[in-house]
Amino acid sequence: MIEAQDLRAGYGDGADILNGISLTAGRKELVTILGPNGCGKSTLLKTIAGYLKPRSGGVKMHGKDVSTVPIHEKVRHHRVGYVPQTDNVFRSLTVAENLRLGARGLDRATTARRYDALMEQYPVLASKQGRKASALSGGERQILSLARALIAEPEILLLDEPSAGLSPLMLHEVFDAIAGIRDSQGMCIVMVEQNAFEALGVADRAYVLSLGQVAIHAPARDLLADPAMRALYLGGHVA
Ligand SMILES: Nc1ncnc2c1ncn2[C@@H]1O[C@H](COP(=O)(O)OP(=O)(O)O)[C@@H](O)[C@H]1O
Ligand SMILES: [Mg+2]
Repeated sequence: MIEAQDLRAGYGDGADILNGISLTAGRKELVTILGPNGCGKSTLLKTIAGYLKPRSGGVKMHGKDVSTVPIHEKVRHHRVGYVPQTDNVFRSLTVAENLRLGARGLDRATTARRYDALMEQYPVLASKQGRKASALSGGERQILSLARALIAEPEILLLDEPSAGLSPLMLHEVFDAIAGIRDSQGMCIVMVEQNAFEALGVADRAYVLSLGQVAIHAPARDLLADPAMRALYLGGHVA
């Protein structure tokens, strides 16, 4: 579903941040991108999404080259949802208004049907439809940003640190919601994460980046099981 091939990318006329990264993600697969702060995780996601044009290499979605297709066209024509790391909801708008923004371009009946389905799926939002997003907790806002991407029924979902700033309890709730979307809707999900252990707990495969390259690519469960990997790349957290 997603095939990134030998991506090089950077900002303005600055040095390359991505130094030749290849990555794949399939249908009904949750792939996580891990690595230390500043190693290029968000840059990789932005390049896949189309906020940043690769300097070389390419991105394919559903087998089609989309390297130079900007994000708004990807959303419309290639069924892509993207949830950025920060500022992912409009705080001055209500929950309902935020959701409807995600449904732009859909007819009324379709919007209403999907809206109702999301309310059923996420009761925490249903009880706060009329509240401003600023009144939600961090976890509720993450669920809202996820739901806003889902209302367009994407086939590919790109998530940048969905667990940022969440309590351990909310973190599990958000990750369970993400794994649930993969399982029930067969979606292709690429998720950048800081919380490596928790992310590996729900992901199928992982890419660990270092200095703009893929240092490790392995099934999530292998990474979790390997003490050397833990010590080296996951903060030395040995259970
Ligand atoms: N908009 C930008 N303009 C210039 N440099 C940037 C920009 N965004 C990120 N960078 C730089 O790119 C590098 C990788 O950043 P980023 O992809 O955000 O890392 P991560 O998400 O892994 O923490 C960092 O050195 C960062 O300073
Ligand atoms: Mg980042």
